[in-house]
Amino acid sequence: MRPKIAAGNWKMNGTASALGELDTLSGMLPDTPPQVIICPPAPLLYRACEKPGPIAIGAQDCHTARSGAHTGDISAEMVADTGATHVIVGHSERRADHGETDSDINAKTSSAWQAGLVPILCIGETEADREAGRTLDVIGAQLASSLPDAVRPGNTVIAYEPIWAIGTGKVPTLDQIIEVHDFLRAQLIARFGPDTGDLIPLLYGGSVKPDNAATIFQAENVDGALVGGASLSASDFAPIIAALAQS
Ligand code: PGA
Repeated sequence: MRPKIAAGNWKMNGTASALGELDTLSGMLPDTPPQVIICPPAPLLYRACEKPGPIAIGAQDCHTARSGAHTGDISAEMVADTGATHVIVGHSERRADHGETDSDINAKTSSAWQAGLVPILCIGETEADREAGRTLDVIGAQLASSLPDAVRPGNTVIAYEPIWAIGTGKVPTLDQIIEVHDFLRAQLIARFGPDTGDLIPLLYGGSVKPDNAATIFQAENVDGALVGGASLSASDFAPIIAALAQS
């Protein structure tokens, strides 16, 4: 069985005072919560990891190399050293702002594994791709080239995030989400076999809010969500987590 996962991506939001949201959120979790991961900005990782409680901590990016002359970058080993267990790789904002390619993301995924981290690998189409009917081609190509062969059950999470839905309040229809997630599941099974392909969690991301979460979680191959804006406050994230627990 695949785990249910609610991951929060704080992006470039939050200073030390925001860490109180972790305590508040811990106190609002359902009795049998899904796995909850918060990915705060890098300067908060150590302090976030010191918090007691069930919330796992992830970084928002890591470098492909273990160390070296890469000013401002953070290696997967450094992320793991903070106590974090996960790392987002290939977020569309990194692809757009930093020119990251599928081959960079492939290398970042491997470096995350080497450091013992679970990568949350993001893929997603632009609005132009969708309007041109290219969604599945684009997603399939991203998955094929950004995911290395050494995938194992438990070592990777995939997040489908249509770029046009991120931070916009626009959400695909349930049928559109089902189409992409069923396609991704089929791709994973075709490449890795059912023993692995059926066990990789698939998250949906892009304008997930308390009022649409339950609908999105109806999709059989949606195993959780990667949440941006609504993860910044415990009072918004907790109902999304509760909807996932009930799905
Ligand atoms: P959003 O962001 O929930 O604010 O749309 C999602 C993401 O970028 O991971």
